Amino acid sequence: MDKIKFLDLGKQPIANGFLTEDEFDDELRYDLSVGVDEDTYLVTHMDYIDPGLIFNDKYAYRGSMSRTMRSHFAEFSYSLRHYLPDNPQILEIGSNDGVFLSNWHQTNTFAVEPCGNFAKETNNLGYKTYNEFWNQGLSEQIAKEQGCMDLVFAANCICHIPDLDSTFKAVHNILSQDGLFIFEDPSLAAMININSYDQIYDEHPHIFSVTALNSILRRNGLSIVRVDNINSHGGSNRIWATKLSTVVPDASVRANMEFESIIGLDSLDTFVKFTSRVHQSKADLVELLQRCKAHNKKVISYGATSKSTTIFNYCGIGTDLIQYITDTTPEKQNKFSPGAHIPIISPDMGFDNTVDFAFLGAWNFADEIKDKEKDFKGRFITHVPIVRIL
Ligand code: TMP
Repeated sequence: MDKIKFLDLGKQPIANGFLTEDEFDDELRYDLSVGVDEDTYLVTHMDYIDPGLIFNDKYAYRGSMSRTMRSHFAEFSYSLRHYLPDNPQILEIGSNDGVFLSNWHQTNTFAVEPCGNFAKETNNLGYKTYNEFWNQGLSEQIAKEQGCMDLVFAANCICHIPDLDSTFKAVHNILSQDGLFIFEDPSLAAMININSYDQIYDEHPHIFSVTALNSILRRNGLSIVRVDNINSHGGSNRIWATKLSTVVPDASVRANMEFESIIGLDSLDTFVKFTSRVHQSKADLVELLQRCKAHNKKVISYGATSKSTTIFNYCGIGTDLIQYITDTTPEKQNKFSPGAHIPIISPDMGFDNTVDFAFLGAWNFADEIKDKEKDFKGRFITHVPIVRIL
């Protein structure tokens, strides 16, 4: 794969590597830069870090922490039943804390989850969970033990895996002849449109366009038959794929690829212009936070997200500009944010009317947060699509 580099986000830590003070000295940092593949236009990191450093027994992100994501998977599971046979065989790759699985019956639903803490949780819920990374050997083992799958599902997981060819071959191997492979991940078109460069971090070695996926899936015996543009994580695509030539593609496939061509996702120039907007976003955010500080305002961040790890480390924002972060996830509370080492506390302890400004680290849940925090007298700050006070 020949890649052309277009963006350098500097030294970054593990985005979900929330840590205690005694772990500061040993914290890993790596160079995060992004390029585009000359053949497929896949937007991808220039160098990949070992997934074992990210997805392990300490992995802190819980999909079920937001109401939005819980209802997203419940609603989708409900509508998906119409496309599957009775008592379908289902495999989820990257099942996290079971936010999708829990909508399905334990008997025929299987999971693959490399993070031991979550694999244990879903095994305890009665879903047979393989505590391993998805690969061809594991796919063969599961096919032998459980048979082929009517549905292979993955949410915010396929874009985490450096080797896409091997990933898709492993899916092809376990999918029944009429089976569906459905996966959703942040969309490159959305990232470019709203300047959400914070989608780029260690866990997202690729940001997918439909155009790039179409090429890579096809060379591994799979084809896209439908694309849903969904709101998750600030704009994602849900890709429906089958084994080659079993189904006539829906009009959404061509429509998405045409749209991507119109906005230039097959041109280096588009990515070079995106880089200039990222530089501007950094300058504007730092300037706004410095102005708040000059006026003695109390500024915190709402949501200790992996996205905000990219922002704080790329922009050089630390406790001088953000006093603390609030987050509902118990595993993140009373720890420090990766790299920037900003303390994280529960919203009960720190989200009150002494706060003048709250930077929306979890901007993708802005509606849910504004709804929940109606009594907040301060103002929210966001950086998407441009830096501003809401
Ligand atoms: P995500 O953007 O990577 O999904 O992470 C969202 C984080 O924000 C997660 O750690 C939970 C946290 N969060 C809150 O603290 N309060 C909220 O109201 C919501 C919606 C999320």
